[in-house]
Amino acid sequence: MTAEPWRVTPPAPIDTDALRAAEFPWTSETVYLNNASIGPLPERTRLALDAFNQRRATPFRLPDRDLFGTLNESRRLVAELLSATPEEIALTVNTSFGLGVVARALPLRPGDHVVVSDREFPANVYPWLRLRESGIEVELIPTTVEGWPDEARILKRLEDPRVRAVAVSLVQFSNGYCVDLPALSAATRRMGAYLVVDAIQAVGQMPVDLRRTPVDVLACGGQKWLLSPWGSGFVYVRRGLISELSPPVTGWMAFEGTDDLTRLTTYNDTLRGDARRFELITLPYQDFAGMNASLGLILELGVERIQAHLQRLHAPILAWAERSGARLASPTGSRGSGILCLAPDEVGEAFRRLKAARIICSLREGAIRLSPHAYNTVDEMERVATVLGG
Ligand SMILES: Cc1ncc(COP(=O)(O)O)c(C=O)c1O
Repeated sequence: MTAEPWRVTPPAPIDTDALRAAEFPWTSETVYLNNASIGPLPERTRLALDAFNQRRATPFRLPDRDLFGTLNESRRLVAELLSATPEEIALTVNTSFGLGVVARALPLRPGDHVVVSDREFPANVYPWLRLRESGIEVELIPTTVEGWPDEARILKRLEDPRVRAVAVSLVQFSNGYCVDLPALSAATRRMGAYLVVDAIQAVGQMPVDLRRTPVDVLACGGQKWLLSPWGSGFVYVRRGLISELSPPVTGWMAFEGTDDLTRLTTYNDTLRGDARRFELITLPYQDFAGMNASLGLILELGVERIQAHLQRLHAPILAWAERSGARLASPTGSRGSGILCLAPDEVGEAFRRLKAARIICSLREGAIRLSPHAYNTVDEMERVATVLGG
């Protein structure tokens, strides 16, 4: 991955003026720092959606080869972003579907334990809690006093052979904490436990390299850091694991031979050997056409550059927190990410001031969550510091 510390020599800076003019022309209207909730659609994506929907209005302009070609391109681009292969990518409509389908597909038995960090986003908790109905023990590991996943304790629990799976977000939604994925990867490989990662708060804002840092499953929606339409997402399943997982629900193209639309009633009960066995076709093609445009932009900008850019953007806020003594609710350094959370005194009042100044961010778990992206500027962050200071 990923859990690389911020790079020492930052890559070439992003030309934010050009990026804003070409892809985010509304950025002078407001300071949008809410990508951890909803990433905006770049202009190229909005245009791709419009163009696709125009063809959709007249379906004779949309041959099957274009529909399936769109999905093939999505799998290819996602694989490129993750250093995976397209065969390991199943397209989904959100993060929850990927996590839910995998929680049910893992070959877990009564008495097996699944370890989940407490205070995870619920999409990565409910699918696991439901396994209790099948006699599986689900351990919610309390966070540290700072509210971060207690990685030392999770690693310790992995020494217990009953622990068969660990589920964790790569980046925590409420404080931006980025787990030490290489350490979790190594420990789960050593113990033969499954590592399932909710990566929606990470992919697009930092490098994620699954060749270097193997995980078993990684689920992600496109709607935040990938600047993609609602309804686009994916789940990565490690090549060697795919054939071990029997999906609890299957679409009609999850089986071998189903690409041949002229012979649909030649039923074949052999599941596909690749991750498409997890796909629930029909998918929202237009949203994947949009996601392809957005992934093109993310790859063009480069995730290393985006990561370095976000670090630069944090500087004025960190300086303000230092000056004012406001509590930071996010880690800095190697466990930090693009999400920066602040808990000044009178946090509700500070949040209202930001809102009145047309600075869009979120209040999460008692802290102001700032989540800038590639198109934000240092000037904007200085403005945030000024408003907070006032
Ligand atoms: C860590 C995490 N997982 C999942 C989600 C959303 O899941 P879905 O894509 O299923 O809506 C969020 C959204 O806020 C999140 O922060």
